[in-house]
Amino acid sequence: MRETLERIRSTAMEQLAAPNADLEQIRIQYLGKKGELTAVLRGMGKLSAEERPVIGQLANEVRADIEAAITAQAEKNAAAALEKKLVDERIDVTMPGVAPARGRRHPLAIIQHEMEEIFIGMGFQIAEGPEVEYDYYNFQALNIPENHPARDTQDTFYITENILLRSQTSPVQVHVMEEQRPPIRIISPGRVYRSDAMDATHSPLFHQLEGLVVDRGITMGDLKGMLELAAKQMFGEQTRIRFRPHHFPFTEPSAEVDVSCFACGGKGCRLCKGEGWIEILGAGMVHPNVLRNCNIDPEEYSGFAFGMGIERITMLKYHIDDIRHLYENDVRFLSQF
Ligand code: DAH
Repeated sequence: MRETLERIRSTAMEQLAAPNADLEQIRIQYLGKKGELTAVLRGMGKLSAEERPVIGQLANEVRADIEAAITAQAEKNAAAALEKKLVDERIDVTMPGVAPARGRRHPLAIIQHEMEEIFIGMGFQIAEGPEVEYDYYNFQALNIPENHPARDTQDTFYITENILLRSQTSPVQVHVMEEQRPPIRIISPGRVYRSDAMDATHSPLFHQLEGLVVDRGITMGDLKGMLELAAKQMFGEQTRIRFRPHHFPFTEPSAEVDVSCFACGGKGCRLCKGEGWIEILGAGMVHPNVLRNCNIDPEEYSGFAFGMGIERITMLKYHIDDIRHLYENDVRFLSQF
């Protein structure tokens, strides 16, 4: 029996020492209920009284040795597995990182934001209005009755006979005057729509920025002074402005406003087409009918309004020669701003 025990110990140790030994299988083979060592222990009853304690002690030693060897091997395996994982998953923190692609403002947003800052600096507040608008706000309340020729130049998209996509930001004037009493000082940037075919200078969707000031004693001098200040901030300190008589149904008198060319200073160049002046907006004194439509008494109050195209100013400032560049989302173009 002694030899059997010694043989069990040495074969178990051999198996445990082999590479990739299956520890659980070895434990079952020797120490399990039907294991070889367990079988020896069961046969102890046949031993003599002197032999039993000696063999019993040896059997316990063999069991303890095998158990210890299994535990030791298991610990070695775990350490090796950890080491392998650490090597396999090593991160080289000195490698250059992958820089995330950063977005930036669209050129239209840059210019819109610049204009907002200028007018906010002069005490204006930003007002918003719906892009889907009633005929009343887009036309009638602005003194453009049905069949008025001004409707032809602002042909837009109709949802129903009475509901349309706004062709200008001017209807926001009406919403604001319906809701607020003077003094009013707002700008309203936003999208407008016209049923125009897309070409280098036209787009069925574009952006305008509307301005409105209503209070007691507002004059055309206020309009001119305010626009001159804004133009200098927008295009440079040396900028001059010029009013040319014009007609808009919602202002009287009305003007088109030019700035001295910021590329040549007024001498005449490609940008201003040799004129020295560049048209940037429409403006005028709010028509008494418009004030009356909003329940503001034109005998007591007066105001001025102006409207400009954000695409136009963006294209002028950045020398963009085709409006379509602004809508094509080509990063090669957009990443220049
Ligand atoms: N709404 C006009 C347009 O789309 C621009 C404009 C002109 C707005 C004169 C005004 C204004 O407020 O007073 O052509």
